[in-house]
Amino acid sequence: MPGPAATEQVLVPPLRQDLLTDATRRLVLIAMLVAFVASVGLVFSLVELSAGRGEPQTWVRMGAAIWMLSLAGLAAIGLRGRRLTPRQMRMVGTAFLMVLAVSSGLVRHLVAQGDSLAGTVPGIAVAVMLFPVLVPGTPRRAAFNGLAATAVDVAAYAALATAGLVPAADLWQMVATFRADLVATAVAYGIAHVVSSLEERVVEARRMGAYTLNRRLGAGAMGEVWTASHSHLARPAAVKLIRTDRVDDPFAREGMEKRFEREVQATAALRCPHTIEIYDFGVTADGSLYYVMELLEGSDLQRLVDGEGRQPVARVVHMCRQICASLAEAHEAGLVHRDIKPANIFVCTYGRERDFVKVLDFGLVKVAAPEQAGLTMVGAITGTPAYMAPEQTVDGRAVDGRADVYALGLLAHFMLTGRLIFGDLAPAAYLAAQRNRTPPRLEDAGVEVPSALQDLIGECLAKGRDDRPPTMDAVAERLEAIAAELPRWPPRAT
Ligand SMILES: Nc1ncnc2c1ncn2[C@@H]1O[C@H](COP(=O)(O)OP(=O)(O)OP(=O)(O)O)[C@@H](O)[C@H]1O
Ligand SMILES: [Mg+2]
Repeated sequence: MPGPAATEQVLVPPLRQDLLTDATRRLVLIAMLVAFVASVGLVFSLVELSAGRGEPQTWVRMGAAIWMLSLAGLAAIGLRGRRLTPRQMRMVGTAFLMVLAVSSGLVRHLVAQGDSLAGTVPGIAVAVMLFPVLVPGTPRRAAFNGLAATAVDVAAYAALATAGLVPAADLWQMVATFRADLVATAVAYGIAHVVSSLEERVVEARRMGAYTLNRRLGAGAMGEVWTASHSHLARPAAVKLIRTDRVDDPFAREGMEKRFEREVQATAALRCPHTIEIYDFGVTADGSLYYVMELLEGSDLQRLVDGEGRQPVARVVHMCRQICASLAEAHEAGLVHRDIKPANIFVCTYGRERDFVKVLDFGLVKVAAPEQAGLTMVGAITGTPAYMAPEQTVDGRAVDGRADVYALGLLAHFMLTGRLIFGDLAPAAYLAAQRNRTPPRLEDAGVEVPSALQDLIGECLAKGRDDRPPTMDAVAERLEAIAAELPRWPPRAT
């Protein structure tokens, strides 16, 4: 079962990502620290030189201090305030480590002249050991960085030896000089291993309560739906994760969580069998909202119509009656769906019943939208322009159940014709069309339906909500009368 791995993929940002994001800030701090130490070294060298006590090594130290000061200063300025991707972060970190390795190597070998520092820990070894904590990665990456830094250190020595600036060393002298680098590489590997296992534990803690995610079913504008299993209960479940990373303000986030809780509880209180059953909900440690619901076997209406094309009249009426039953109860409880569209209506085989409809996504996704969302945000988040009522395109908050009546009319039209009511338009053009364009009649699309059904859909699609059927019960009653004149659906199995 791909539990933790799957969980890690979906719960953004995972720990490593968090640490890497913070790592930019830490790198800036380190660069500033290196710059500070280099400045102090520079001041000391200048004092020594001005007191006439300068040796050749003082010049080397001074050159190194100026070089490190410029480098660290540039790094601090370049990185400040930036949000690097984890990949960029690792590349910058590794580049920094290599430059540090060559600089500190040259200075160390020149100043120590081969062996006098052999017993102490060179700066590069310290940097190699600290690296996996500062810029977390896999143990293998830590080992690679350590070996690369050692190689650079050896190359620096070889270059100085070739230039005759340090004595050529034999193998044992080389081992003595560079063993600290190799030991540091092994330690870095161990540290990276510890950091990785801590990561796994945090990922584990970010599971959704007792649920583990198994397989991704699909993704929408605001989140993802996964199949999930419970550690003790046998019933299969689906988890919807709602992304909240667009909301930075902690107050907005808190308000959103409260609304999410209120709405999820309101939905969970609905008892109509055509409303999705909610088992559980919560907030993950990293702030994603989630709820757990029954897992359905079947297809949403978008996929159904995309695959099978336009649907028979009796089937459409059969499904719409079930949607009415779900929405009638929700409206009575004061809950407007606001996002009735084919992707949110699921048709399944439920026990022995075929074409059993379940309405999904009650008001829940919308809470993730900032309160003062502009019109474009409304299009992206709180509804789909192709299924929005005219009043909803103006102010998404001031809607009542009659917005769902309008959307049901659009849904019926889509199922009967297999096409969007105003064709393929850009989102903004769709919003305008919902307000201004007269919807085409079904017969114009070449679809024969009873005139009572055509009239009902036409009334549902009235621009003014006072001209629509007032309630879902009113729609359901008329659908019942229409169904009585149609062949039975689902047809009896032969
Ligand atoms: N309880 C469930 N059981 C099985 N499949 C589900 C369940 N809930 C949703 N799905 C499927 O998961 C997919 C993704 O659903 P999701 O609600 O994230 O997307 P959407 O409806 O296209 O967009 P939106 O975010 O606007 O609701 C859909 O294909 C849907 O059919
Ligand atoms: Mg949905």
